[in-house]
Amino acid sequence: MKRFVLAPSILSADFRKLGSEVETVAAGGADWIHIDVMDGMFVPSISYGMPVIRSIRPCTDQCFDVHMMVEEPGRYVRDMKEAGADLICVHQEACVHLDRTVNQVKELGMKAAVALNPATPVSTLEYLLPELDMVLVMSVNPGFGGQKFITYALDKIRDLRKMIERKGLDTDIEVDGGVSLGNVRQVLDAGANIIVAGSAVFRGDAAANCREFTRIFKEYEG
Ligand code: DX5
Ligand code: ZN
Repeated sequence: MKRFVLAPSILSADFRKLGSEVETVAAGGADWIHIDVMDGMFVPSISYGMPVIRSIRPCTDQCFDVHMMVEEPGRYVRDMKEAGADLICVHQEACVHLDRTVNQVKELGMKAAVALNPATPVSTLEYLLPELDMVLVMSVNPGFGGQKFITYALDKIRDLRKMIERKGLDTDIEVDGGVSLGNVRQVLDAGANIIVAGSAVFRGDAAANCREFTRIFKEYEG
């Protein structure tokens, strides 16, 4: 049975009470916490890094899914591990030596994932795919929460799921950007199983929104 995971993006949380926001979504049924690290180079914005991750680590045992929107993220994977990361996702477009960076992550005992910007084809992972625990299909241009879902991401998810099946793998597909309770079924139908949601979780009652997402997942777990 395919597992489905909700990974709320804390980029949309209230930073004045970040610890309790993390506890709220974990109690609401979120399995992972999605942590967006931005360097002001790979993406225009700057968010947060190791000190913030370290400070929220005691709030929950949930998997810390660290999305590195950073140039040459290999420079930071060891620091991220020490701060409490469980999974590191690096961008294909940000790594000159992607294979090396992925292996650095794995050697440190973390799960390894690669993110693809909307315009990057899934075929770029043809050879690296067996090394990966997860592929992140970006459904917005990375850098900001609250953007509109780019619909051709659905074609990419379908193509990637076919590639995974053709190779006899069981790689997770995560989708990030503009996912809401209104369009999540389309994303699941296309073949994704890890759902990132920022504004759709933290706008309003975060625990209730998490429960609503996980209720929809149950329909798919059948
Ligand atoms: C965008 C980030 C996302 C963002 C998602 O660059 O990677 O994780 O927080 O936010 P929503 O769900 O509001 O599009
Ligand atoms: Zn993200």
